[in-house]
Amino acid sequence: MSREFNIGVIPGDGTGPEVVAEGIKVLKAASEKFGFSLKFTYYDIGGERYKKTGETLPDSILGEFKQYDALYLGAIGHPDVKPGILEKDILLRTRFELDQYINLRPVKLYEGVETPLKDKGPKEIDYVIVRENTEGLYAGAGGTLKRGTKDEVAIQESINTRKGVERCIRFAFEYTKKRNKGKKLTLCGKTNVLTYAFNLWERAFYEVSKEYPDIATDYAHVDATCMWMVKNPEWFDVIVTDNMFGDIITDLGAMTQGGMGIACGGNINPEGVSMYEPIGGSAPKYTGKNVINPLASMLAGAMMLEFLGLPEASSAIENAIQRAIKDDLKSMEAGKMGMGTKEVGDLISGYVIQ
Ligand code: IPM
Ligand code: MN
Repeated sequence: MSREFNIGVIPGDGTGPEVVAEGIKVLKAASEKFGFSLKFTYYDIGGERYKKTGETLPDSILGEFKQYDALYLGAIGHPDVKPGILEKDILLRTRFELDQYINLRPVKLYEGVETPLKDKGPKEIDYVIVRENTEGLYAGAGGTLKRGTKDEVAIQESINTRKGVERCIRFAFEYTKKRNKGKKLTLCGKTNVLTYAFNLWERAFYEVSKEYPDIATDYAHVDATCMWMVKNPEWFDVIVTDNMFGDIITDLGAMTQGGMGIACGGNINPEGVSMYEPIGGSAPKYTGKNVINPLASMLAGAMMLEFLGLPEASSAIENAIQRAIKDDLKSMEAGKMGMGTKEVGDLISGYVIQ
């Protein structure tokens, strides 16, 4: 197996570049320690470039993205740019065009991190959400009629294809099997109201489940899922759901694991190029202050190594993060960590090398 990997890096906007710099520091430490090499190529796409040139994601760059072993993203979103433009043209377009059909978001409470959930700890909060990442309400189907009049009509349709749903469900079963923890996969939907879409999901789910007799299956409506994520998070091992529900419940999950400072995600195409990111936004008010928490970006890096086939290096980063949380960091919140962004990067890369 090749021990050389080409990574496309999109630091992006706001605090994106700061967290990416620390993530890369830690990735480099892991590459030295475990004897593989990472070559990073940087792209300046994001709000600043859009303001200067009007360009969001040029086709030529998208073409280059397809050549990498993985992409490593900071954050996209700029206070001077109308919401929706950068998100749609850069983040969603990359997900769609690279067919990153899985959005993998672990909800894991590390020891020493505070959770707002009463009487719950790392044993109870440790599950993974598999969010479909290319269809549903995000597909962009719909339109408006008589816009701006009293008769205005707005339609936004959820697209669910058998192929798209089935490959996502199949990934979730495989992942549950590989994770080998609770051996339970929960489908999160709304079969009582969204009777077309989630009927398709439900049929695909139970049909695919026949190929996985060792994995227990469960179903929960999305509203109930939110309830259980707060009240009984220990019930979950892996949850699979559609794009919109996944977007919503993963933010809830992130809050229960200590907030955006520590929540990472992977936009995964198991057969192609995947993109790893901290799931928090660009946090403009903290930009340039060396106060933002870089752990989510480092965990995204660890997830990237895992999917590149470097599980030891991935675990080394995760263990170093766990150690820093237990021994050194005061909080997961920006400005309250007890040290600066760069210092957290130095500390954790030091632990990785040891
Ligand atoms: C996320 C984000 C994006 C999404 C936005 C920025 C388009 O919230 O990655 O969860 O809705 O998918
Ligand atoms: Mn989101």
